Amino acid sequence: MKKRVFKAVIPAAGFGTRMLPFTKAVPKELIPLVDKPVLQYVIEEAVAAGIEEVLLIVSSGKEAIIRHFNPVPDLEIRLEESGKQELLAQIRALNTMVKISYVYQQQLDGLGGAVRLAKNFAGDDPVAVMLGDTVMDSHTGRSVTGQLVDVYERYGTSVIAFEQVPLEKVSRYGVADAEELSDGVLKLRDLVEKPAPEKAPSNLAVAARYLFTPGIFTALEHTVAGLHNEIQLTDAVRLLLKSEAVHGCRIAGKRFDLGSKAGFVAANVEFAMRCPELQETLEKQLRNILNK
Ligand code: G1P
Repeated sequence: MKKRVFKAVIPAAGFGTRMLPFTKAVPKELIPLVDKPVLQYVIEEAVAAGIEEVLLIVSSGKEAIIRHFNPVPDLEIRLEESGKQELLAQIRALNTMVKISYVYQQQLDGLGGAVRLAKNFAGDDPVAVMLGDTVMDSHTGRSVTGQLVDVYERYGTSVIAFEQVPLEKVSRYGVADAEELSDGVLKLRDLVEKPAPEKAPSNLAVAARYLFTPGIFTALEHTVAGLHNEIQLTDAVRLLLKSEAVHGCRIAGKRFDLGSKAGFVAANVEFAMRCPELQETLEKQLRNILNK
């Protein structure tokens, strides 16, 4: 039965080892993309897709995430007094744009382990799952999570975001075995977590966004530790496929993984080049660097 999609779960409990030592004290979800932390882009994408309630899965030591979305009255007074109205509106929006609640993941037992903690939050409603270290930049007027919602509204099933990656990179991702329907919609036959290129069923990689029916939580209850001894969300999707259809959506957009060094630098250059106030100076600086 199709229902309105208004809930999202954002796993943000991991150590962020690919970005150490920076991530020792600062959560990887707060890595900046120009002037906003990654997680803020993710929440803005959620809001654009109609999400009204967000559950953030955090872990001990990552409380800065909670502080980013909490009001700071003294700061607001200071901005008000100095007439910085635009900045004030932006700061206020952080604690008003969506209802955020938090849950602590005590045992870091994988993405599946994190999503499992959202069972009560989800109840009988569908939930979007959005990885908190990845910005999805839509190529259309519809956010990437919004694109998943559109497929859900057509089929009433769980929907996973996919993008094509070079075959030599499939071992970094969950990879689809799927039948191509129309308009970029896929019907999943199977999903394999981080296969070797020669064993990969395709080069369609899971791209950081999912939309699940409540069936995923039953599947997660029966999912045992898999690759790297972690509860893999991919394994839960395989179980789900035994009882429900699952669709895929070739996203019209680009994925920016800020949790890797190259991804972080490239995304910052690309987003900074889109800021009118930075463009000209930055372009000159980049040309100088490249000409050296
Ligand atoms: C996770 C998922 C994987 C997915 C990837 C990017 O892997 O397990 O299936 O393709 O995110 O969305 P991770 O990057 O956490 O190792």
